[in-house]
Amino acid sequence: MDTTTLRNRFRQQFGTSGDLYFSPGRINLIGEHTDYNGGFVFPGAVDKGVAIEIYRNGSRKVCLLALDRDDVPYVEFSLDDKEKPAQHWACYIFGVCKELEKRGVTLGGFNAAITGDVPLGAGMSSSAALESVFAFALNTMFADGRVDKFELAKIGQATEHNYCGVKCGIMDQFASVMGREGCLIRLDCRSLEYEYFPFDPKGYKLVLVNSGVKHSLGNEYNERRESCEKAVALMNEQFGGVETLRDANYQMLDAVKGGLTDDDYRRAKYVLDEKERVLAVCDALNEGKYELVGQKMYETHWGLSRDYTVSCPELDFLVETAQECGVTGSRIMGGGFGGCTINLVRETIADKFISKVKREYARKFGIIPEIYQVVIGDGSRKLQ
Ligand code: GLA
Repeated sequence: MDTTTLRNRFRQQFGTSGDLYFSPGRINLIGEHTDYNGGFVFPGAVDKGVAIEIYRNGSRKVCLLALDRDDVPYVEFSLDDKEKPAQHWACYIFGVCKELEKRGVTLGGFNAAITGDVPLGAGMSSSAALESVFAFALNTMFADGRVDKFELAKIGQATEHNYCGVKCGIMDQFASVMGREGCLIRLDCRSLEYEYFPFDPKGYKLVLVNSGVKHSLGNEYNERRESCEKAVALMNEQFGGVETLRDANYQMLDAVKGGLTDDDYRRAKYVLDEKERVLAVCDALNEGKYELVGQKMYETHWGLSRDYTVSCPELDFLVETAQECGVTGSRIMGGGFGGCTINLVRETIADKFISKVKREYARKFGIIPEIYQVVIGDGSRKLQ
Protein backbone atom coordinates (compact mmCIF):
# COMPACT_ATOMS: atom_id res chain seq x y z
CA MET A 1 0.00 0.00 0.00
CA ASP A 2 1.34 3.42 -0.92
CA THR A 3 1.82 5.40 2.27
CA THR A 4 3.17 8.64 0.74
CA THR A 5 -0.07 10.58 1.20
CA LEU A 6 -0.42 9.24 4.71
CA ARG A 7 3.07 10.49 5.56
CA ASN A 8 2.47 13.89 3.99
CA ARG A 9 -0.86 14.47 5.69
CA PHE A 10 0.46 13.34 9.06
CA ARG A 11 3.35 15.80 8.83
CA GLN A 12 1.04 18.64 7.70
CA GLN A 13 -1.39 17.99 10.54
CA PHE A 14 0.96 17.18 13.40
CA GLY A 15 4.30 18.69 12.32
CA THR A 16 6.32 15.50 12.99
CA SER A 17 6.57 12.04 11.58
CA GLY A 18 5.70 8.79 13.33
CA ASP A 19 5.72 5.02 12.87
CA LEU A 20 3.64 3.15 10.32
CA TYR A 21 1.49 0.10 11.06
CA PHE A 22 -0.81 -2.00 8.91
CA SER A 23 -3.59 -4.54 9.51
CA PRO A 24 -5.44 -6.36 6.73
CA GLY A 25 -9.04 -7.14 5.92
CA ARG A 26 -9.99 -10.79 5.46
CA ILE A 27 -11.73 -13.31 3.30
CA ASN A 28 -13.45 -16.43 4.58
CA LEU A 29 -13.58 -19.56 2.44
CA ILE A 30 -16.36 -21.20 4.44
CA GLY A 31 -17.83 -21.26 7.96
CA GLU A 32 -20.16 -18.28 8.10
CA HIS A 33 -21.99 -17.28 11.30
CA THR A 34 -20.32 -20.21 12.98
CA ASP A 35 -17.78 -18.29 15.07
CA TYR A 36 -20.18 -17.07 17.78
CA ASN A 37 -21.73 -20.55 17.74
CA GLY A 38 -18.52 -22.27 18.80
CA GLY A 39 -17.91 -23.68 15.32
CA PHE A 40 -15.10 -23.59 12.74
CA VAL A 41 -14.15 -20.79 10.37
CA PHE A 42 -11.68 -20.75 7.48
CA PRO A 43 -10.45 -17.19 6.97
CA GLY A 44 -7.28 -15.65 5.59
CA ALA A 45 -5.92 -12.11 5.61
CA VAL A 46 -5.81 -10.17 2.33
CA ASP A 47 -3.32 -7.70 0.91
CA LYS A 48 -5.70 -4.78 1.49
CA GLY A 49 -6.33 -3.17 4.83
CA VAL A 50 -5.87 -0.15 7.09
CA ALA A 51 -2.59 1.71 7.58
CA ILE A 52 -1.86 4.28 10.27
CA GLU A 53 0.94 6.62 11.15
CA ILE A 54 1.14 7.19 14.87
CA TYR A 55 3.28 9.08 17.37
CA ARG A 56 3.12 9.67 21.13
CA ASN A 57 2.20 13.26 21.97
CA GLY A 58 3.14 13.28 25.65
CA SER A 59 -0.36 14.28 26.83
CA ARG A 60 -3.57 12.39 27.65
CA LYS A 61 -5.12 13.43 24.36
CA VAL A 62 -5.81 11.21 21.37
CA CYS A 63 -5.88 13.18 18.10
CA LEU A 64 -7.13 11.31 15.03
CA LEU A 65 -7.13 12.27 11.39
CA ALA A 66 -9.07 9.95 9.06
CA LEU A 67 -7.86 10.63 5.53
CA ASP A 68 -10.68 8.86 3.77
CA ARG A 69 -13.58 10.57 5.55
CA ASP A 70 -15.03 13.73 4.23
CA ASP A 71 -17.77 14.18 6.86
CA VAL A 72 -15.80 14.66 10.09
CA PRO A 73 -12.20 13.66 9.38
CA TYR A 74 -10.64 15.00 12.59
CA VAL A 75 -11.60 13.87 16.12
CA GLU A 76 -10.00 14.37 19.53
CA PHE A 77 -10.79 12.64 22.80
CA SER A 78 -9.06 12.26 26.14
CA LEU A 79 -7.93 8.93 27.52
CA ASP A 80 -9.79 9.98 30.69
CA ASP A 81 -13.13 10.43 28.92
CA LYS A 82 -15.88 8.13 30.14
CA GLU A 83 -18.23 8.78 27.24
CA LYS A 84 -17.35 7.51 23.78
CA PRO A 85 -16.88 10.07 20.97
CA ALA A 86 -19.86 11.17 18.87
CA GLN A 87 -18.20 10.06 15.63
CA HIS A 88 -18.87 6.39 15.07
CA TRP A 89 -15.51 5.71 13.39
CA ALA A 90 -13.63 7.13 16.38
CA CYS A 91 -15.47 4.74 18.74
CA TYR A 92 -13.39 1.88 17.35
CA ILE A 93 -10.20 3.53 18.52
CA PHE A 94 -11.73 4.73 21.79
CA GLY A 95 -12.87 1.15 22.45
CA VAL A 96 -9.46 -0.34 21.71
CA CYS A 97 -7.85 2.12 24.18
CA LYS A 98 -10.35 1.21 26.91
CA GLU A 99 -9.99 -2.53 26.32
CA LEU A 100 -6.20 -2.33 26.43
CA GLU A 101 -6.38 -0.38 29.70
CA LYS A 102 -8.76 -3.01 31.13
CA ARG A 103 -5.96 -5.51 30.49
CA GLY A 104 -3.48 -3.46 32.50
CA VAL A 105 -1.75 -1.48 29.73
CA THR A 106 -1.02 2.13 30.71
CA LEU A 107 -1.49 4.27 27.64
CA GLY A 108 -0.33 7.79 26.89
CA GLY A 109 -1.83 10.22 24.38
CA PHE A 110 -1.04 9.92 20.70
CA ASN A 111 -1.59 11.49 17.30
CA ALA A 112 -2.59 9.22 14.46
CA ALA A 113 -3.58 9.47 10.81
CA ILE A 114 -5.58 6.66 9.24
CA THR A 115 -6.07 5.47 5.68
CA GLY A 116 -7.08 2.24 3.96
CA ASP A 117 -7.67 0.40 0.75
CA VAL A 118 -10.03 -2.28 1.98
CA PRO A 119 -13.48 -1.32 0.68
CA LEU A 120 -15.81 -0.18 3.47
CA GLY A 121 -18.97 -2.20 4.12
CA ALA A 122 -17.94 -4.86 1.59
CA GLY A 123 -17.83 -7.76 4.04
CA MET A 124 -14.02 -7.72 4.10
CA SER A 125 -13.80 -6.53 7.70
CA SER A 126 -12.65 -2.97 7.37
CA SER A 127 -13.67 -2.36 10.98
CA ALA A 128 -11.67 -5.33 12.28
CA ALA A 129 -8.66 -4.02 10.35
CA LEU A 130 -9.07 -0.65 12.07
CA GLU A 131 -9.34 -2.18 15.53
CA SER A 132 -6.44 -4.54 14.93
CA VAL A 133 -4.06 -1.90 13.62
CA PHE A 134 -4.57 0.24 16.72
CA ALA A 135 -4.47 -2.71 19.12
CA PHE A 136 -1.21 -3.86 17.54
CA ALA A 137 0.40 -0.41 17.40
CA LEU A 138 -0.56 0.64 20.93
CA ASN A 139 0.57 -2.70 22.33
CA THR A 140 3.95 -2.19 20.63
CA MET A 141 4.28 1.44 21.72
CA PHE A 142 3.03 1.29 25.29
CA ALA A 143 3.46 -2.34 26.39
CA ASP A 144 6.51 -3.57 24.46
CA GLY A 145 4.30 -6.12 22.71
CA ARG A 146 3.44 -7.81 26.03
CA VAL A 147 -0.21 -8.52 25.17
CA ASP A 148 -0.22 -11.66 23.02
CA LYS A 149 -1.65 -11.59 19.53
CA PHE A 150 -4.73 -13.66 20.24
CA GLU A 151 -5.61 -11.27 23.05
CA LEU A 152 -5.26 -8.36 20.61
CA ALA A 153 -7.92 -10.00 18.46
CA LYS A 154 -10.15 -10.34 21.53
CA ILE A 155 -9.62 -6.65 22.26
CA GLY A 156 -10.98 -5.83 18.80
CA GLN A 157 -13.96 -8.12 19.33
CA ALA A 158 -14.68 -6.61 22.78
CA THR A 159 -14.54 -3.16 21.18
CA GLU A 160 -17.32 -4.18 18.78
CA HIS A 161 -19.39 -5.59 21.64
CA ASN A 162 -18.92 -2.79 24.14
CA TYR A 163 -18.52 0.36 22.03
CA CYS A 164 -19.96 -0.32 18.57
CA GLY A 165 -23.10 -2.38 19.27
CA VAL A 166 -22.19 -5.49 17.23
CA LYS A 167 -22.12 -8.81 19.08
CA CYS A 168 -19.70 -10.32 16.58
CA GLY A 169 -17.61 -13.46 16.84
CA ILE A 170 -13.81 -13.59 16.82
CA MET A 171 -13.17 -14.47 13.17
CA ASP A 172 -12.48 -11.05 11.63
CA GLN A 173 -10.12 -9.71 14.26
CA PHE A 174 -8.38 -13.08 14.52
CA ALA A 175 -7.73 -13.21 10.77
CA SER A 176 -6.57 -9.60 10.67
CA VAL A 177 -4.04 -10.05 13.48
CA MET A 178 -2.90 -13.62 12.78
CA GLY A 179 -2.98 -13.83 8.96
CA ARG A 180 -0.08 -15.43 7.10
CA GLU A 181 0.90 -15.00 3.47
CA GLY A 182 -0.44 -17.79 1.24
CA CYS A 183 -2.34 -19.50 4.08
CA LEU A 184 -5.91 -19.85 5.22
CA ILE A 185 -6.39 -20.51 8.91
CA ARG A 186 -8.78 -23.08 10.27
CA LEU A 187 -9.89 -21.79 13.64
CA ASP A 188 -11.91 -23.81 16.09
CA CYS A 189 -13.89 -21.05 17.81
CA ARG A 190 -14.68 -23.27 20.81
CA SER A 191 -11.18 -24.41 21.78
CA LEU A 192 -9.50 -21.46 19.98
CA GLU A 193 -7.00 -23.89 18.47
CA TYR A 194 -5.93 -23.00 14.96
CA GLU A 195 -3.96 -24.37 12.08
CA TYR A 196 -2.42 -22.69 9.03
CA PHE A 197 -3.40 -24.29 5.71
CA PRO A 198 -1.25 -23.35 2.70
CA PHE A 199 -3.82 -22.41 0.10
CA ASP A 200 -2.71 -22.56 -3.51
CA PRO A 201 -5.46 -24.19 -5.52
CA LYS A 202 -3.68 -24.98 -8.78
CA GLY A 203 -5.80 -23.95 -11.72
CA TYR A 204 -8.26 -21.91 -9.65
CA LYS A 205 -8.60 -18.32 -8.51
CA LEU A 206 -10.47 -16.65 -5.70
CA VAL A 207 -12.38 -13.64 -6.97
CA LEU A 208 -14.53 -11.25 -4.96
CA VAL A 209 -17.45 -9.46 -6.57
CA ASN A 210 -18.70 -6.41 -4.69
CA SER A 211 -22.47 -5.98 -4.90
CA GLY A 212 -22.00 -2.35 -3.89
CA VAL A 213 -24.77 -2.82 -1.31
CA LYS A 214 -23.14 -1.35 1.78
CA HIS A 215 -23.77 -3.47 4.78
CA SER A 216 -23.35 -2.34 8.33
CA LEU A 217 -23.80 -5.02 10.91
CA GLY A 218 -26.03 -4.10 13.81
CA ASN A 219 -29.45 -5.18 14.99
CA GLU A 220 -30.09 -7.67 12.24
CA TYR A 221 -26.80 -9.42 12.95
CA ASN A 222 -27.47 -9.42 16.69
CA GLU A 223 -30.95 -10.87 16.09
CA ARG A 224 -29.42 -13.85 14.26
CA ARG A 225 -27.20 -14.45 17.22
CA GLU A 226 -30.19 -14.27 19.58
CA SER A 227 -32.06 -16.87 17.52
CA CYS A 228 -29.13 -19.26 17.99
CA GLU A 229 -28.95 -18.51 21.70
CA LYS A 230 -32.66 -19.23 22.14
CA ALA A 231 -32.26 -22.63 20.52
CA VAL A 232 -29.22 -23.34 22.71
CA ALA A 233 -31.08 -22.38 25.90
CA LEU A 234 -33.96 -24.76 25.14
CA MET A 235 -31.69 -27.67 24.20
CA ASN A 236 -29.56 -27.09 27.25
CA GLU A 237 -32.65 -27.15 29.46
CA GLN A 238 -33.81 -30.42 27.94
CA PHE A 239 -30.52 -32.26 27.40
CA GLY A 240 -27.85 -30.42 29.41
CA GLY A 241 -24.29 -29.76 28.23
CA VAL A 242 -25.29 -27.49 25.34
CA GLU A 243 -23.22 -24.33 25.62
CA THR A 244 -23.33 -23.38 21.94
CA LEU A 245 -24.76 -24.88 18.76
CA ARG A 246 -21.47 -26.74 18.41
CA ASP A 247 -22.72 -29.07 21.15
CA ALA A 248 -26.07 -29.68 19.45
CA ASN A 249 -27.35 -32.06 16.77
CA TYR A 250 -30.42 -32.31 14.54
CA GLN A 251 -32.31 -34.65 16.89
CA MET A 252 -31.91 -32.25 19.78
CA LEU A 253 -32.97 -29.30 17.66
CA ASP A 254 -36.06 -31.12 16.41
CA ALA A 255 -36.98 -32.01 19.99
CA VAL A 256 -37.25 -28.32 20.92
CA LYS A 257 -38.75 -27.13 17.63
CA GLY A 258 -42.16 -26.49 19.26
CA GLY A 259 -40.64 -23.86 21.55
CA LEU A 260 -39.01 -21.90 18.72
CA THR A 261 -40.32 -19.60 16.02
CA ASP A 262 -39.88 -20.86 12.49
CA ASP A 263 -37.14 -18.23 11.93
CA ASP A 264 -35.22 -19.29 15.04
CA TYR A 265 -35.47 -22.95 14.09
CA ARG A 266 -34.25 -22.40 10.53
CA ARG A 267 -31.36 -20.25 11.65
CA ALA A 268 -30.18 -22.83 14.17
CA LYS A 269 -30.54 -25.54 11.55
CA TYR A 270 -28.39 -23.55 9.12
CA VAL A 271 -25.61 -23.45 11.73
CA LEU A 272 -25.75 -27.24 12.17
CA ASP A 273 -25.58 -27.67 8.38
CA GLU A 274 -22.67 -25.26 8.13
CA LYS A 275 -20.76 -27.13 10.83
CA GLU A 276 -20.82 -30.25 8.65
CA ARG A 277 -19.94 -28.32 5.52
CA VAL A 278 -16.78 -26.84 7.03
CA LEU A 279 -15.52 -30.28 8.00
CA ALA A 280 -16.33 -31.62 4.53
CA VAL A 281 -14.43 -28.72 2.98
CA CYS A 282 -11.35 -29.42 5.13
CA ASP A 283 -11.28 -33.01 3.86
CA ALA A 284 -11.91 -31.91 0.28
CA LEU A 285 -9.06 -29.39 0.48
CA ASN A 286 -6.69 -32.02 1.81
CA GLU A 287 -7.59 -34.22 -1.13
CA GLY A 288 -7.46 -31.37 -3.68
CA LYS A 289 -11.16 -31.83 -4.51
CA TYR A 290 -11.94 -28.24 -5.38
CA GLU A 291 -15.17 -29.00 -7.20
CA LEU A 292 -16.53 -30.38 -3.93
CA VAL A 293 -15.31 -27.29 -2.05
CA GLY A 294 -17.21 -25.20 -4.57
CA GLN A 295 -20.39 -27.23 -4.21
CA LYS A 296 -20.31 -26.65 -0.45
CA MET A 297 -19.86 -22.91 -1.03
CA TYR A 298 -23.08 -22.83 -3.06
CA GLU A 299 -24.86 -24.78 -0.34
CA THR A 300 -23.65 -22.25 2.22
CA HIS A 301 -24.95 -19.41 0.10
CA TRP A 302 -28.46 -20.81 -0.21
CA GLY A 303 -28.48 -21.70 3.47
CA LEU A 304 -27.53 -18.14 4.33
CA SER A 305 -30.12 -16.81 1.93
CA ARG A 306 -33.12 -19.05 2.70
CA ASP A 307 -32.59 -20.20 6.27
CA TYR A 308 -30.32 -17.65 7.94
CA THR A 309 -31.94 -14.81 5.91
CA VAL A 310 -28.86 -12.59 5.60
CA SER A 311 -28.81 -12.26 1.79
CA CYS A 312 -30.40 -9.71 -0.53
CA PRO A 313 -31.55 -9.80 -4.18
CA GLU A 314 -28.23 -8.39 -5.39
CA LEU A 315 -26.14 -11.11 -3.72
CA ASP A 316 -28.49 -13.88 -4.86
CA PHE A 317 -28.23 -12.53 -8.39
CA LEU A 318 -24.42 -12.56 -8.26
CA VAL A 319 -24.41 -16.16 -7.09
CA GLU A 320 -26.95 -17.23 -9.72
CA THR A 321 -24.88 -15.56 -12.42
CA ALA A 322 -21.76 -17.33 -11.18
CA GLN A 323 -23.60 -20.63 -11.34
CA GLU A 324 -24.74 -19.94 -14.90
CA CYS A 325 -21.13 -19.21 -15.88
CA GLY A 326 -19.97 -22.56 -14.49
CA VAL A 327 -18.07 -21.02 -11.56
CA THR A 328 -16.96 -23.78 -9.17
CA GLY A 329 -18.24 -22.14 -5.97
CA SER A 330 -19.87 -18.84 -5.04
CA ARG A 331 -21.47 -17.42 -1.93
CA ILE A 332 -21.97 -14.42 0.33
CA MET A 333 -18.85 -13.65 2.30
CA GLY A 334 -18.95 -12.33 5.85
CA GLY A 335 -21.98 -11.21 7.82
CA GLY A 336 -24.23 -10.68 4.80
CA PHE A 337 -26.88 -8.01 4.06
CA GLY A 338 -24.68 -6.76 1.20
CA GLY A 339 -20.95 -6.66 0.53
CA CYS A 340 -19.10 -9.19 -1.62
CA THR A 341 -19.54 -12.69 -2.92
CA ILE A 342 -16.49 -14.95 -2.85
CA ASN A 343 -16.02 -17.09 -5.95
CA LEU A 344 -13.80 -20.08 -6.57
CA VAL A 345 -13.27 -19.93 -10.31
CA ARG A 346 -11.33 -22.10 -12.73
CA GLU A 347 -8.60 -19.96 -14.28
CA THR A 348 -9.72 -20.90 -17.75
CA ILE A 349 -13.12 -19.27 -17.31
CA ALA A 350 -12.18 -16.40 -14.94
CA ASP A 351 -12.06 -13.64 -17.57
CA LYS A 352 -15.32 -14.72 -19.15
CA PHE A 353 -17.03 -14.86 -15.76
CA ILE A 354 -15.76 -11.42 -14.76
CA SER A 355 -16.96 -9.72 -17.91
CA LYS A 356 -20.31 -11.49 -17.83
CA VAL A 357 -21.03 -10.75 -14.18
CA LYS A 358 -20.15 -7.08 -14.68
CA ARG A 359 -22.40 -6.80 -17.70
CA GLU A 360 -25.38 -8.68 -16.27
CA TYR A 361 -25.23 -6.93 -12.91
CA ALA A 362 -25.02 -3.51 -14.52
CA ARG A 363 -28.00 -4.35 -16.72
CA LYS A 364 -30.08 -5.43 -13.72
CA PHE A 365 -28.97 -3.06 -10.95
CA GLY A 366 -27.45 -0.12 -12.82
CA ILE A 367 -23.92 -0.34 -11.39
CA ILE A 368 -20.80 -2.16 -12.51
CA PRO A 369 -19.60 -4.30 -9.59
CA GLU A 370 -16.00 -3.98 -8.50
CA ILE A 371 -13.91 -7.12 -8.77
CA TYR A 372 -11.00 -8.01 -6.48
CA GLN A 373 -8.56 -10.85 -7.12
CA VAL A 374 -7.67 -12.27 -3.74
CA VAL A 375 -4.04 -12.24 -2.60
CA ILE A 376 -3.62 -13.87 0.79
CA GLY A 377 -1.26 -11.77 2.88
CA ASP A 378 0.23 -11.38 6.36
CA GLY A 379 -1.54 -10.15 9.49
CA SER A 380 -0.95 -7.00 11.62
CA ARG A 381 2.57 -5.59 11.40
CA LYS A 382 4.80 -2.58 11.68
CA LEU A 383 5.81 -1.18 8.30
CA GLN A 384 9.30 0.08 7.53
C1 GLA B 1 -19.10 -10.72 10.65
C2 GLA B 1 -18.66 -10.91 12.10
C3 GLA B 1 -17.92 -12.23 12.28
C4 GLA B 1 -18.73 -13.39 11.72
C5 GLA B 1 -19.22 -13.08 10.31
C6 GLA B 1 -20.14 -14.14 9.78
O1 GLA B 1 -18.02 -10.59 9.80
O2 GLA B 1 -17.82 -9.85 12.50
O3 GLA B 1 -17.63 -12.44 13.64
O4 GLA B 1 -19.78 -13.74 12.57
O5 GLA B 1 -19.90 -11.83 10.25
O6 GLA B 1 -19.47 -15.33 9.63
